[in-house]
Amino acid sequence: MSIRMTQRRTAASVRSAAVIGSGVMGAGIAAHLANSGMRVLLLDVVPRTLTEAEERKGLTLDDPAVRNRLAEGAVAGMAKSQPAPLYDSAWTSRIRPGNLTDDLSLLGDTDWIVEAVVERLDVKREVLAAIESARRPGTLVTTNTSGLSVAAMAEGRSKEFREHFAATHFFNPPRYMKLVEIVPTEDTAPEVTELLGELCVSRLGKGVVVARDTPNFIANRIGTYGMLVTLADTIRFGLTVEEADALTGPAMGRPKTATFRMLDLVGLDTLLHVVDNVRERSEDEAERDIFARPQVLEELVGMGRLGEKSGSGFYRKRKDADGRSRIESLRFGTLEYGPQVKVSSPVLDAAKAAKGAAAKAKALLGANPQDRYAQFAWSTVKQTLLYAAFQVGVIAESVVDIDRAMKWGFNWELGPFELWDAIGLRSSVARMSEEGESIPEWVEAWLAAGNSSFYRISEQKRFFVSGGGLREERQEEDVISLAALKEDGRTVLGTSGASLIDIGDDVVCLEFHSPNNAIGGDILSAIRQSSAEVSRNWRGLVLANEGRNFCVGANLMLLLMEAQAGEWEEVEDIIRFFQDSMLRLKRLDRPVVAAPHRMTLGGGVEACLPADVILLSPETYFGLVETGVGLIPAGGGCKEAAIMAMQRAGLSSSAATKGSAGASPGDLQPHVNALFETIALARTSTSGHDAAKQGLLRPQDRVLVRQDARIAEAKRLVLELDRAGYAAPEEERVAVAGREGKAVLAMGVHAMRLSGHISDHDALIAGKLAHVLAGGDVRQGARVSEQYLLDLECEAFLSLCGESKTQERMSHMLTKGKPLRN
Ligand code: NAI
Repeated sequence: MSIRMTQRRTAASVRSAAVIGSGVMGAGIAAHLANSGMRVLLLDVVPRTLTEAEERKGLTLDDPAVRNRLAEGAVAGMAKSQPAPLYDSAWTSRIRPGNLTDDLSLLGDTDWIVEAVVERLDVKREVLAAIESARRPGTLVTTNTSGLSVAAMAEGRSKEFREHFAATHFFNPPRYMKLVEIVPTEDTAPEVTELLGELCVSRLGKGVVVARDTPNFIANRIGTYGMLVTLADTIRFGLTVEEADALTGPAMGRPKTATFRMLDLVGLDTLLHVVDNVRERSEDEAERDIFARPQVLEELVGMGRLGEKSGSGFYRKRKDADGRSRIESLRFGTLEYGPQVKVSSPVLDAAKAAKGAAAKAKALLGANPQDRYAQFAWSTVKQTLLYAAFQVGVIAESVVDIDRAMKWGFNWELGPFELWDAIGLRSSVARMSEEGESIPEWVEAWLAAGNSSFYRISEQKRFFVSGGGLREERQEEDVISLAALKEDGRTVLGTSGASLIDIGDDVVCLEFHSPNNAIGGDILSAIRQSSAEVSRNWRGLVLANEGRNFCVGANLMLLLMEAQAGEWEEVEDIIRFFQDSMLRLKRLDRPVVAAPHRMTLGGGVEACLPADVILLSPETYFGLVETGVGLIPAGGGCKEAAIMAMQRAGLSSSAATKGSAGASPGDLQPHVNALFETIALARTSTSGHDAAKQGLLRPQDRVLVRQDARIAEAKRLVLELDRAGYAAPEEERVAVAGREGKAVLAMGVHAMRLSGHISDHDALIAGKLAHVLAGGDVRQGARVSEQYLLDLECEAFLSLCGESKTQERMSHMLTKGKPLRN
């Protein structure tokens, strides 16, 4: 098996792609390929009949609009679909829709062709034959199958084609789900598997697991098994649908959709299809029994109850007499629906109260074995763990591959083997044996050799069981784990809300770890202490963390209490402390790089703005959203926005960004207007790329596709700045839009109020924001100090805190977790 490549191809050399099939997955994959900057051709079949609308327009089956209808419809749908498949909705321009009959020859000009048509071997084979007739040698071809045999699909194709062919199994939705299973056949050239892995990781930001060509690969095989045993146990233990979901969701470190809500989303007919695929292809009788069609599923599908897409499945939505929506759940005995019953029990409470997936699982599975819920949870988990263990070496190379597949493909917080370690490997295997379960030989041998866990951490490296010994888990070189560094004693200093961690090469990382990573006094104190420490002893600072979100904003609780008590001096102290902490970061004589991921809101953005570089991820949702709680940014956010507007107008005062010749104060207005709109409407970016479009980034800021490499990349940037001879930015004399600018903004606010787009209170807040962003009552183009702008922020913020409607907004956010428009 040889493959001729004159030089090794890199992921960067793959510039164009084609996706065949523009359904749910084809459209999602095409969008995500476009996200990576590729030009994408999206092809589907030519429709055989006209729609009524097409007939009315007088179109015929020969019109391109009709012939490309499917792919064109898919592209048009991308701008509307939620969650958004594109980082920027304008990037539909990178996708060219077409059809397989007229545009097949265009495949000769693409570097990578992804087949994503219906899950039928005969159809996929036909499509691959057509692809072979048009592609040029060397083009990568992959199939997005959920679990058909990849080798069977390639039968009849040339050797050269088969060398370049494998499965790339994306999960839905492709932009958001981390897992891609790459399934090579025996004929796939190893360089091709490697190149596909590199493409998926570095260009698409995915996590790759190489799987064997067995039915449904890894994640769907184990996930489906888990759902089947949960369904069977729910009936056996006499539990309700909602009880089973309460036990198999977050209480077990799994997503809220748990089991039955997830099944409704996937589609009950789809599940049957997946189940059939394993049963029909399995040579193991016991396995064929496990993957028998559950009677209740057959009945529901027979009744047309397919889940969400048909309006009912294990749950259904009904309207009350008063028009309110209510979710009802299925009764297994009668297949009727009834109101959901609230689930509560001490076992569930204990799991909910425990912190982290490992502690939750321990609380749930280690509870009193007489408890029915604990028995059910133990039974489903036990079977899933054993099944996964029997699959090592059969469907997957190692425990790590199975754990990663379940974490990245099913959003489990812990993979089966990590969970097993967490609940105690030795004691749980003993319990399983007592209960008469057969234990895989390799697990028994591992325990007999004196081991008591599948994983072991030593010197920041994780080792896993493999072939009777321990093997080091291969991490991408550029992944830095703060958790592992902390375990290794590399914490330099810390408060209850944040820790400063030595990440090597004389660089430190400040990690927030308060509840929801909200910024309170503890984090601000840590920022101040860290600034002093970095200045004395380190080359630079990274701001990043491994929480669910980077930071959801400032902690409103204390602020609201002080405001309600009318303690204005205290409120002012809080603002000044925040502003001063941010200034210390900005003036630090060492480089600072912030690497925010996921939700980065309000104070979270303000904490990033003093950094020399902000390194976002595609999945960073970045926004100054203070108006949503009745306030304006007052931790330096407005001041930094005014500086950005000045720099964009070419009026900067600092040496590094000297004003461009000919710029005049009037040039400020469009930039101030745009930022005003973003902040007043509390806009949050839908991706890292979109944050630039919202005007919240500076020219030096950037987006890194691989979110898990962000800390290492931020460190690299710190070192680069340090080597270049870093000096802290000089204080700006900020040219502001002044009275004239404020009047323009005020007119806009007035029009919005008149048209009913905003409330009186929104208009009041927007008026204060306009005052601060425009630099108050000075002439247009006047230069003001940064401190003056901070004073304006503080004054406006204080006055808003005194408004009862602002206090209502804050209180609503604290109790309901969402903004109130009053
Ligand atoms: P879908 O039904 O939404 O789309 C299938 C597309 O294939 C349609 O646009 C259809 O017009 C097109 N098609 C049908 N026959 C064709 C032919 N002869 N030539 C060209 N195109 C043809 O299906 P979906 O969900 O997008 O699935 C596509 C593939 O992705 C399947 O193999 C499925 O198993 C796999 N998959 C699906 C996932 C999901 O969650 N929906 C997840 C992962 C994989």
